[in-house]
Amino acid sequence: MAKLAINGGEKVITRPLGKEWPVWDEREEKALLEVLHSRHWWGGGEGSKVREFEDAFAKYQDAKYGVTTNSGIQSLICALKAAGVEPCDEVLVPPLTFFASATCALFVNAIPIFVDVDPATYNISAEAMEAAITDRTRAAVIVHNGGYPADMDAIMEVSRQHDLPIIEDCAHAHGSEWRGTRVGAIGHLGAFSLMAGKSLAGGEGGIILTNHAELREKLYAYMDLGRWVERSDKSVRLDTTSNFRMPEWTAAILLAQLTRLDEQIETRERNFTYLAEGLKEIDGVEPFERDPRVTRWSIYYWNFRYKQEEFDDIPRNKFLEAVNAEGAPIGVGAHGRPVYQNPLFQAMTAGNTWPIKCPSYDKPIDYTKVHCPEAERIYQTEALCISHPGFLGSREDMDLILEAVRKVRANTDELRK
Ligand SMILES: Cc1ncc(COP(=O)(O)O)c(C=O)c1O
Repeated sequence: MAKLAINGGEKVITRPLGKEWPVWDEREEKALLEVLHSRHWWGGGEGSKVREFEDAFAKYQDAKYGVTTNSGIQSLICALKAAGVEPCDEVLVPPLTFFASATCALFVNAIPIFVDVDPATYNISAEAMEAAITDRTRAAVIVHNGGYPADMDAIMEVSRQHDLPIIEDCAHAHGSEWRGTRVGAIGHLGAFSLMAGKSLAGGEGGIILTNHAELREKLYAYMDLGRWVERSDKSVRLDTTSNFRMPEWTAAILLAQLTRLDEQIETRERNFTYLAEGLKEIDGVEPFERDPRVTRWSIYYWNFRYKQEEFDDIPRNKFLEAVNAEGAPIGVGAHGRPVYQNPLFQAMTAGNTWPIKCPSYDKPIDYTKVHCPEAERIYQTEALCISHPGFLGSREDMDLILEAVRKVRANTDELRK
């Protein structure tokens, strides 16, 4: 008789784990009704919730200024504009991320240049970043994959050496901290997504943080039709831009969500630390070795590693099928396929003539020939993850995940048939 659920055996996990996401209660209901009744439905002016959220979140993340937008990608685009990226400039980007971390560059007619990752963290490698710098490089977008902070010491050192603006894509890392400073406040600019699935959920939305007054001024202008921050001057700037303002409803929800963020981060961290201890005892699955400089690890998803050679040579995807059949919510980690393997890049349809085949870009790029060996290996064979709502439940949930992994580990003979 088969033991594994994938072969018809009994499933280990028969109930949902964690919590349904997004979490809400009367705080959100009250906040929405307050906006409705106030007739203050747009995000500017005296008493605006949008301004209140910008200040509150900037403070939460240790930054001086916050400028909201209507999405994560729009926040990245505003950040690239504020950093002075011009058509045909090169922007360094990581391959393991959501594609918006790279496609944001195409929106400002710049060229995304993929830089391989550090296998210890799945984040962009500072060494590879430095090696990729050319006379056309104007900025780097770095991602804190899953919420695990990138090595900001090494990255900021490269930035200083090469006068390179660093844009932190913090879409996965609300609340994460590197040596006591929250992400988004370490680079020159920090862009966050606040869409419904993120660990700070506003439905749709984004925010960019900075410690530099002149960058804030530029961010605000790109976000709001070229207007000046505080609207003290009625004129508009010359830059062509549009309206990316956050609606007041979104900010009301986000202020309510912010009241629970610390508690949620602590619950997740307690649970994944416990899970990591258990996984360490099982051959073939390996949690990250936490860098002591990661002083707070907030997650969008929790990455860990699969070691095929230590798991009786069962391929990672076969392991995933088996453990999913047992009901464990484990998926491919590190955000999946390297971004340059996306059809958009492979078919070279992104601006057929512009920007990647722009006549004034003298070294046209062919993304079908781009390879980041570490990113490809991690995607194909190694990365595993569990999404953040899965850690909002009890320690018993972690025990069930451990039981499912142990059961698959003990019955690999069944996976060979
Ligand atoms: C790393 C990363 N950057 C940017 C984005 C884009 O955010 P949005 O969907 O809010 O535009 C996402 C969204 O998932 C993301 O994961």
